[in-house]
Amino acid sequence: MANTATIEIGGKKYEFPLVEGTEKEVAIDIKSLRAATNGIITLDSGYKNTGSCESAITFLDGEKGILRYRGYSIEELAEKADFLEVAYLLIFGELPTKDELEKFHNDIKKNSIVDEDVHKILNAFPKAAHPMGVLSSLTSALTAFNPSSVNVESEEDMYNAIVKILGKMPVLVAWTMRKKQGLPLDYGDDSLGYVENILKMMFSKPNHKYENNKIYVDALDKLLILHADHEQNCSTSTVRITGSSHAGLFVSLAAGISALWGPLHGGANQAVLEMLEAIKADGGDTAKYMAKAKDKNDPFRLMGFGHRVYKNFDPRARIIKKAADEVLEALGIEDPILEIAKGLEKEALEDPYFVERKLYPNVDFYSGVIYRAMNIPQEMFTVMFAIGRLPGWIAQWREMRLRKEPIGRPRQLYIGETERSFVPIEKR
Ligand code: ACO
Repeated sequence: MANTATIEIGGKKYEFPLVEGTEKEVAIDIKSLRAATNGIITLDSGYKNTGSCESAITFLDGEKGILRYRGYSIEELAEKADFLEVAYLLIFGELPTKDELEKFHNDIKKNSIVDEDVHKILNAFPKAAHPMGVLSSLTSALTAFNPSSVNVESEEDMYNAIVKILGKMPVLVAWTMRKKQGLPLDYGDDSLGYVENILKMMFSKPNHKYENNKIYVDALDKLLILHADHEQNCSTSTVRITGSSHAGLFVSLAAGISALWGPLHGGANQAVLEMLEAIKADGGDTAKYMAKAKDKNDPFRLMGFGHRVYKNFDPRARIIKKAADEVLEALGIEDPILEIAKGLEKEALEDPYFVERKLYPNVDFYSGVIYRAMNIPQEMFTVMFAIGRLPGWIAQWREMRLRKEPIGRPRQLYIGETERSFVPIEKR
């Protein structure tokens, strides 16, 4: 294969190097384009064809439905690893030894106390506030109680910031839910595993001895692993671009949480459940909703379907669908919502509209069904996604800073008015 690409503009040829990744993906390196062509830029709204960075964290092949963290397949990790091991793998590049994992967990536990004054901020939110807004604000507020920036020249400082946020974020997540439910805040129990403790902090009741349900713990562990990273998606790109101004880790994460909230991204898991419930309330008429999704005059989209990168089955959706079946069976739940989801999936996979556009179920199509079986309120679904994505965001932020990437600052093609004279207000 040639190792350069040639662009011809107005009869003049410009050569640009081709760069190859370890999985043989090829990119045209256009760094010198603007300077060489006297100001010409590329235009790619939504960045469908633009690589924003080189990254060694996650590989995904949307055509083949492959997803790997640091070279390990998502299927193997979901089956054999636990969430904290995966977090370590994503952030530091290798699976931890027993000792490394133990130290990592202990350091996280030591850092899981949140300043009491953060309660005051939490208490100032109305109960009706969406937990994603509260989580984003509280994560941002943590900067007031911790150094606002991290000395990235020091691995130790970087490590300390990482264990701090991994310790504090689950507390904030649990508190956002407890606040909504009017429950006293809970710090969990240090003797529990990371994921077990998240559940305890969320579900313990002041008048009842808390006992962990292994089915819940395993299900949540798997869901968090499946959400842990997904290369340069909207929220991760937000974290990287925010951090590229050398803004601190916590505020970069707060920006990522806000980006995740939208229904086209992480907010889809809540939107899927709302859609499935609406279909159920409407008599279970899936055909009607399929028709709406295909109608170009109707803004309705089949939530949980389609993906910017996967033009094949999202490998995470396969794992989650199986997990949903297993969890519901183990808990002895027969949920008509799951049946509606399966029916909708079957119809969509056979429908030419969805087939032609390569629209398959994505990770969020079945995750809500599991969260619902675990009694997690719908408004918390995207918050659960955020806690899963946390190690990915951290890993991507750390990589960006260690690679000393320049500030993210795209160009634009201006299409507004050309120069005109100011008109005084009395003459307008
Ligand atoms: N329902 C109906 N039609 C759809 C859907 C859908 N869910 N998704 C895409 N399409 C159609 C579009 O209307 C478009 O049709 P056209 O070519 O006739 O105009 C075509 O498929 C391509 O869609 P785009 O929006 O251009 O694809 P894009 O890559 O920009 O968007 C996205 C991907 C945002 C995920 C989209 O598929 C969507 O809105 N899905 C529903 C929301 C969702 O589930 N989001 C979660 C994504 S996974 C995650 O973030 C964890």
